[in-house]
This record gives sequence, C-alpha cells and structure tokens, in this order.
Amino acid sequence: MNTHEPAALCVLTTDGIETNALTEAAEMVLRMQLNGQAVSVRCRPDTRLLTLLREYWHLVGAKPGCEVGRCGACMVWFNGAPANACLLMAYQLQGQSVRTIESLREDPASAPVKDALDACGGVQCGYCTAGMVVHLTWLHQQSPRPSFADAEAMMCGNLCRCTGYGGIRRAMRELFEDNRSATGATARTS
Ligand code: FES
Ligand code: FES
Repeated sequence: MNTHEPAALCVLTTDGIETNALTEAAEMVLRMQLNGQAVSVRCRPDTRLLTLLREYWHLVGAKPGCEVGRCGACMVWFNGAPANACLLMAYQLQGQSVRTIESLREDPASAPVKDALDACGGVQCGYCTAGMVVHLTWLHQQSPRPSFADAEAMMCGNLCRCTGYGGIRRAMRELFEDNRSATGATARTS
C-alpha cells in the first residue's frame, strides 16, 4: 500500500474546482478562496498547502523542491503576497485567499514577466519557473516598482538549481532596470 495516499476517500464538492479525496483522520473543514473561487476540503490542520494544491486540487504548478521554505519552487500568493506553499498549513488558511500560477498565468499582470523570461532565455528546466513568475509578477506590480538591485535581493528565496541565472537576471533587468535612476541602484551584469 502506498502510505502517501489518503487512507480513506470521499469526495467533497467545491464551487468550481474539482476536489479529489479526504483522509479519514480529517479534523477540520477548510474553507478558503482559491484562484478566485470558494473551495472547501476536510483535512488535518497540519496538512500543507502544497499538498492540498497538488494532491487534492491537482494544481501542480507549485513544485515541491526543498519543502522547507528555501527554494521558492512552491511559491503562491497568500492574501495577495508571495508565500511558500510548503510552509503554510491548513489551519492557517481558514477564510484566507490563495492564488497559484494556474490563475496568475492568465492574469495580464504576469504578461510582462512571461514575455521577459521568454525573450531573455529565462525559462530553462522549468522547475523553478512557476515560482519565479509568481514572485516576479508580484514585484513588478508594486508601486513604486523596486529597482533591479532591490528586486534581485528580494528574489533571493527563488533558487534555480541548475544555476542558470543569466537569462533570469537579464529578464529581471528588462523588468526593473528603469527604476535604477529613482533609487541610485546600479544593475550588475551577469
Ligand atoms: S518547496 Fe517550498 S520553498 Fe522549496
Ligand atoms: S531553470 Fe530553474 S531549476 Fe533549472
């Protein structure tokens, strides 16, 4: 028996998003907003958001990388700000709002980010890309927009394990370099 599978299964209805299964040991009913839709699922309070997304809602854009909050591969928006889905547990999500790459990729706000990554060769193996787009989209829509140097510092939690940062940094320069004069920051070359 695969011990990673839910022990006993039933199906909950959600408003617009198909739910898979619940564990027999469920202890709470989580109700939250997911990608703009009300969803609910019965689960243990310590079930991680990353597990809920991938195994119950089949939203697999958020990737399991380090699973300890260091790589950013699982990044989502939690109440409108970037957060690592591997560090958020069900009890923290009650009544809250989450957006994943599956929603953000359709949002016009992500278009400049996707275009820059594409044009600059910033999309490589792809494991880190969803988290990068999630975080860069949030940074790019901030007002005032951060400088390249500030954006680069804030992206320190998004790792590319193949170390191909050249294309990603070129894309970030296109997205944030215009802000250099406003802050006095100077973009570094890759
Ligand atoms: S898998 Fe969540 S930060 Fe690495
Ligand atoms: S392109 Fe990000 S991990 Fe390889």
